[in-house]
Amino acid sequence: MSGFDRISGDVRSAAQTAGLALALLLSSFAEAGAQGALSLSSPDERNVVTVGIVDGALVYAVERDQRKILLPSRLGFEFRNAVALADGLEIVSSEPHARDEVWEQPWGEMALVRDLHNELRVTARETAEPGREVAVVFRAYDDGIAFRYELPEQPGLGEFEIMDELTEFHLADDPRAWWIPANDPTHRYELLYRSSPASTIPEVHTPLTLETLDGPVIVIHEADLVDYAGMNLTGSWERRLSVTLPAWADGVKVRGRTPFVTPWRTIQMADRAADLVPSTLGLNLNPPNAIEDVSWIEPMKYVGIWWGMHINTVTWGSGPNHGATTENTTRMIDFAAENGFGGVLVEGWNVGWDGDWIANADLFSFTEPYPDFDLPALAAYANDRGVTLIGHNETSMGVTNYENQLDDAFALYESLGIRALKTGYVGDETAEGHAHHGQYMVRHWRRVIEAAARHGIMLNVHEPIKDTGERRTWPNMMTREGARGMEYNAWGREGGNPPEHHTILYFTRLISGPLDYTPGVFDILISSSDGAPREPEESRLRTTLAKQLALYVVLYSPLQMAADLPENYEGQPAFQFIRDVPVDWELSATLGGKIGDFVVVLRKDRDGPDWYLAAITDEEARSFDITLSFLPEGEDFVAEIYADGEGAHWLTNPLPVAISTQAVDAASTLTLQLAPGGGQAIRFRPAE
Ligand code: NOJ
Repeated sequence: MSGFDRISGDVRSAAQTAGLALALLLSSFAEAGAQGALSLSSPDERNVVTVGIVDGALVYAVERDQRKILLPSRLGFEFRNAVALADGLEIVSSEPHARDEVWEQPWGEMALVRDLHNELRVTARETAEPGREVAVVFRAYDDGIAFRYELPEQPGLGEFEIMDELTEFHLADDPRAWWIPANDPTHRYELLYRSSPASTIPEVHTPLTLETLDGPVIVIHEADLVDYAGMNLTGSWERRLSVTLPAWADGVKVRGRTPFVTPWRTIQMADRAADLVPSTLGLNLNPPNAIEDVSWIEPMKYVGIWWGMHINTVTWGSGPNHGATTENTTRMIDFAAENGFGGVLVEGWNVGWDGDWIANADLFSFTEPYPDFDLPALAAYANDRGVTLIGHNETSMGVTNYENQLDDAFALYESLGIRALKTGYVGDETAEGHAHHGQYMVRHWRRVIEAAARHGIMLNVHEPIKDTGERRTWPNMMTREGARGMEYNAWGREGGNPPEHHTILYFTRLISGPLDYTPGVFDILISSSDGAPREPEESRLRTTLAKQLALYVVLYSPLQMAADLPENYEGQPAFQFIRDVPVDWELSATLGGKIGDFVVVLRKDRDGPDWYLAAITDEEARSFDITLSFLPEGEDFVAEIYADGEGAHWLTNPLPVAISTQAVDAASTLTLQLAPGGGQAIRFRPAE
């Protein structure tokens, strides 16, 4: 498969698009006194972006269904050692384009993605010396608006240092924002979401999901972040969200040289939260697949030597409880092979973990195993059993140490047939003081993705840069953390992730792309830790067991872990669901959902006729009637149902799971009953 198969194409006439564009002029723009404003509408004509000059500044505004979404909002840059490129501008040209094509993903939430948009490239120039030019390319899709800056090569602008990007998102009203703070570098996106009026938010990460009272749900994010700092947003009482960029050690935000393009700034819009996911806007804004042969890139489920470190039954470092021994890993490979898992993650296999591994980042070796871990023999044994070892490179933000070893390490893994790697960046900033999510690190991550692609390695990045759709170009960039995942249930100070957490993640973090949450812990009370179940106020899971199953369908990841210790799956009929559930989908749809309350997700297996349905809830019990009209007409199916059992409750009685089967077809309706903090997972397979 090429990964970028053009299935249909239709480039509409530029003149037609331009005519449409010029016919639309936003009222808010006229009010702001804009001269000669240009407009661009989405193919369904519901989303409109208008751009023009107000008092010498380039501004844009967004409407949906004639309702104001963004009021005129500023664009521009401040530089070090050069005047800002923001004022005294005039529009000198505009160029329309349009595209309608369908491309195929090597893997994902759906096989085919349609890229249907209208585009307008607007060039502005300073009216006074030095007469610098900046172009802003706008795209209007049916699911949102995107724009990015292009700084063309020109005499007045060569090498530059951006100190501030002046882009604003001036919200027309004060929606409810779902956010995590960005000024908390120690947590690297690993925070519980909060919600408050957008006008009150501090500096926050994107994607930022905004619920308007009577209008669309909006998500502000970015796409195609290649050589720039990650974008944060800072609120203001005037509802002007402004861009804030994490810095290099010397305070510069972005270094570059013309010709230069920024990432896309995206404003996704949907009538209801359920229509936001799965989101393809960011994927469509990334360049096509750059990897010619993608046959080695295979989504898979995996197990690993991992949870034991977090619940303190084994250690990363050497000693009597060392987790990554040859013996433990052999057992884990056997468990994976017997249960159809594709990979075995091994953490703590390499020298460097002893002592304070966060402070001593430079002591990590990425090629030297601990003496009790026989790397070549284990890699070969895994391959013999049809499994790959998943290597682990914790850098502790020792980026120079890592880059110095990157080629040797990746060549070694390739030679051993290790096809996947988990990387980690625990640490606030680099030793030199570059921000975790700044341009320095963005460049580093891209280097790692490209090096991994050269060596046939799939990546799962922890403490990552947020997802901006790079998997389209680099489909070996499979999944990442970038959220408060399962491990917080082992040791998170707040007692673990609350029942609503996953119903928020779905409409926030998951909009950017796959999440390595590592679901599937059956030992909800973490008794394996020291033999005693944890008390309600201690760290523990705050879901029912059935909800753990549902998370496999809800929280999409092409590398999906069964996180618990193998002994906790023994004798558990519910484990069959984890064995069965696919990780690659032909279709995905959100059947219903409310941010922070519940989600109902439907997916169709990409490699077979099965469908999967899952629902999760917060601390409220809920029930849903679902008509199975998605099943092929006239065909008999069996529903394998994993529901919360009698009396299940996330806090007091999390374990009961009721497993049943039922004959169904497209005319059937199922009633899903979810316990407080519960969930339900259903596999539909053709009747024999
Ligand atoms: C944090 C990661 O999220 C976790 O999965 C990993 O085990 C530790 N860092 C150690 O690298």
